[in-house]
Amino acid sequence: MASLALATAGLGVAALAGLAWALQQADARMQRDVAVKSRAVAYTTDAVTIERGRRLYLDAGCVHCHGADGRGQEFASGAGLRLVAPNLTPAGAVARYQPEDWNSAIRHGVKPNGRPVLAMPSERYHGWSMDELSALVSYLRQLPPAPGEAAVVQWPLVQRVRYGLGWDTDAAARIDHRRPPARSASASAMASMTTPDGLALPCSDCGPVWPITWSAAQHDTANATGLGQPMRMHASQR
Ligand code: HEC
Repeated sequence: MASLALATAGLGVAALAGLAWALQQADARMQRDVAVKSRAVAYTTDAVTIERGRRLYLDAGCVHCHGADGRGQEFASGAGLRLVAPNLTPAGAVARYQPEDWNSAIRHGVKPNGRPVLAMPSERYHGWSMDELSALVSYLRQLPPAPGEAAVVQWPLVQRVRYGLGWDTDAAARIDHRRPPARSASASAMASMTTPDGLALPCSDCGPVWPITWSAAQHDTANATGLGQPMRMHASQR
């Protein structure tokens, strides 16, 4: 009897140690420095280019997370999960961005401080041309500077463990950073992000959080109940 109790206690201790290790790995991964050779994005005030950038902002799905006015918003929440995309107007997170910073954040998934983004699908934008990036960034830069949201990436415990164990990865880990930008208009930038089942974005685009693709009906159930579902995509973003 005593040996059984001892064995159980031993297993419990081992499990706790494993959990602590995975969480510590997750922190290390989030804090890691991702070295990319970034290219400078050209700024323009040309009206036609800016209009192209506005279309890209909508079609590439930036709007679903960063909001119609670019001021940032909470775009997913539930059961320990909270994701807020930051303010992209000139008064926001990008106020001090240099021309290279735009490229590394959007195409490489790396913030100016060298840390990986966690909940933004930069791998979808990695194949863009520098012209497309220039149009998009020029559009963002001419938005009226306005107060907005700061980024929040809060993952449930199970997600942090999965990330720590390397079962899920961030965009910077999924990108081949040596691949050059497209030379001309890229298919990924032209394609609307609407999935065949009519969703604005697959759930997996909220980061490696829930790497499953839900049907439209499942999304609706999640939205209707809000409870008992791992994640709720806010109705306004769909
Ligand atoms: C699925 C939601 C989502 C989509 C789609 C998305 N973003 Fe983001 N974005 C985020 C989140 C969340 C952050 C905060 C950083 C992180 O993920 O850890 C962020 C951060 C950023 C940053 C700032 C990085 C920093 O802290 O310096 C920029 C710039 C940005 N996004 C631009 C864009 C643009 C442009 C697009 C479209 C091409 C886009 N995002 C699409 C969610 C998204």
